Amino acid sequence: MAVNYKDLGFVNTTEMFKKAFEGHYAVPAYNFNNMEQIQAIITACGKSKSPVILQVSSGARKYANQTLLQYMAQGAVQMARNDGYNMPVALHLDHGDTFELCVSCIESGFSSVMIDGSHHPYEKNVELTAKVVEYAHKYDVTVEGELGVLSGIEDDVVAAKSIYTQPEQVEDFVKKTGVDSLAISIGTSHGAYKFKPEQCTKNEKGVLVPPPLRFDILEEIEKRIPGFPIVLHGSSSVVPEYVNIINNNGGKLKAAVGIPAEQLRTAAKSAVCKINIDSDGRLVMTAMVRKVFAEKPEEFDPRKYLGPAREELVKMMIDKNENVLGSAGRVD
Ligand code: G3H
Ligand code: 13P
Ligand code: ZN
Repeated sequence: MAVNYKDLGFVNTTEMFKKAFEGHYAVPAYNFNNMEQIQAIITACGKSKSPVILQVSSGARKYANQTLLQYMAQGAVQMARNDGYNMPVALHLDHGDTFELCVSCIESGFSSVMIDGSHHPYEKNVELTAKVVEYAHKYDVTVEGELGVLSGIEDDVVAAKSIYTQPEQVEDFVKKTGVDSLAISIGTSHGAYKFKPEQCTKNEKGVLVPPPLRFDILEEIEKRIPGFPIVLHGSSSVVPEYVNIINNNGGKLKAAVGIPAEQLRTAAKSAVCKINIDSDGRLVMTAMVRKVFAEKPEEFDPRKYLGPAREELVKMMIDKNENVLGSAGRVD
């Protein structure tokens, strides 16, 4: 074993999820790819006294290097402690697709991994997930599995349509694999275009309102695995305010639609203990960078446009923790 997460200041997700379940809130899982994002996540979660899961995707590993990201996360925990923030921090592999990748992350100090076998046939998903769990649990690392396929883009894997999780499979899957949490598909999807405009209605402000998530499936799942932590991927709200800033400053995002905040709030009060948010952070950064460039075309110091982006990210994440996930104020 090269290094264990416990020596790096991270925690696994066991205690976080137990508290989230009992307290009827969800822990935010924010993706990061660079320094400004991780600074914003730590500052927002520190200030709002929220536990946090730092997520590293395959795209992030390709862009920024797994080792560097892991050291950034380690440094971020140190920064939090120096600033007097006490919240628990987990370092999590998002959408791990092979046993070897999970091993490499566990060996380099991740405290939690996702093995996403959702695109495999059921039996293969069970086999792969169980193999990762067996390895991970030796080091007290928690494992997230997935049943059901989200529409849109899950890293490099393109799923043609959303295949909802079948509630009759969950009990068997959890029992056979030993996973610690389960990602399910109830209508969320990755990215900024989660629904086609023709699937939506328009509210009085002209904002597209998508069809509701399949809470009936979620309830059915909760009945079959009572008390078990559920994870929602693809849970950005694609806040119209930021989409408008982008489009008013030279961007061209058409008919971007996310999951309404009220629906996520409802989910967070249920067995959903972890909510994944990546696209909303991307939109915030793009909005602020575009705004600075539009207002100050002479600017060329990256700190002058990444700084405002980081500041707005903090605001957005504090709002999520306080008003959507309900994770704010949960740590001393
Ligand atoms: O699950 C998808 C995440 O948003 C990560 O996407 O591979 O482009 O970083 P990425
Ligand atoms: P969004 O694209 O909705 O932010 O989802 C992110 C995610 O699920 C990361 O695993
Ligand atoms: Zn995801």
